[in-house]
Amino acid sequence: MAKPKIIMHNSITLDGSFRDIDVDMGIHYGTAASFGEDIHLVGANTAKTGIEMFGGVPPEEDSDFRKAERERTIPIWAIIDSKGILKGSLHVFRRFELCRDVVVLVSGSTPEDYLEYLKERDYDFIVTGEEHVDLKEALEVLSKKYKAGTVLVDSGSGLNGALLAQDLVDDISLIMMPLLTGKGTDTLFANIEKNETIELELLKCEKLERDYVWLVYKVKRSSNK
Ligand SMILES: NC(=O)c1ccc[n+]([C@@H]2O[C@H](COP(=O)([O-])OP(=O)(O)OC[C@H]3O[C@@H](n4cnc5c(N)ncnc54)[C@H](OP(=O)(O)O)[C@@H]3O)[C@@H](O)[C@H]2O)c1
Repeated sequence: MAKPKIIMHNSITLDGSFRDIDVDMGIHYGTAASFGEDIHLVGANTAKTGIEMFGGVPPEEDSDFRKAERERTIPIWAIIDSKGILKGSLHVFRRFELCRDVVVLVSGSTPEDYLEYLKERDYDFIVTGEEHVDLKEALEVLSKKYKAGTVLVDSGSGLNGALLAQDLVDDISLIMMPLLTGKGTDTLFANIEKNETIELELLKCEKLERDYVWLVYKVKRSSNK
């Protein structure tokens, strides 16, 4: 099975911070849209942080138990959540008009009650891997099932690091924010294995509004090079 093209997309400060920063959503998602993603791939912690940031979880209504009917041009949100930490809150994403529907990527370690929660609400889910999701296999299944050619990764260092470590990332897109936050060493690339060098080739360097800079690099050792 073919792997889709995987693009990491993040906003970071000049000193590398990516958490607890005031991301310019217009710039972040405006630039992301240019990639024409079929799948928006999100880690569980990122999804949870997003829910807290945008006002929490409203009570479920009858319509939350059915798939939304939206244009096929709108991307599917594939959320990795093998521990089931989003139980009770997935309808926040299902209601989001820029999400065609939610597909949950789970593993052999996922609690049974979470799978029941997904089935009761007619969420598609894909089971791969034992402890964690097998990212390569899950991406191949997603690509085949949803005819997805391009996946945009919207996550922090956990998922990004795992994808990079498994040589699954094709391009890295960074929105560089003209800020220094002094927030320490928790950088976006903190989870890359020590002593590993990943060579990159610059594809884009564009000055945006508000002195932001958009950098896009191709990962040279990626299988799609
Ligand atoms: N500035 C930006 O552009 C930006 C964008 C997105 C997020 N963020 C920030 O990033 C932070 C969240 O980052 P995070 O690193 O804590 O969480 P994360 O990116 O959501 O990563 C955790 C996810 O990665 C999965 N994962 C980790 N290692 C894996 C492996 N080896 N194989 C398969 N799956 C694996 C975990 O799976 P399990 O389900 O198995 O645990 C979990 O779903 C938040 O503060 C958020 O606001 C910033």
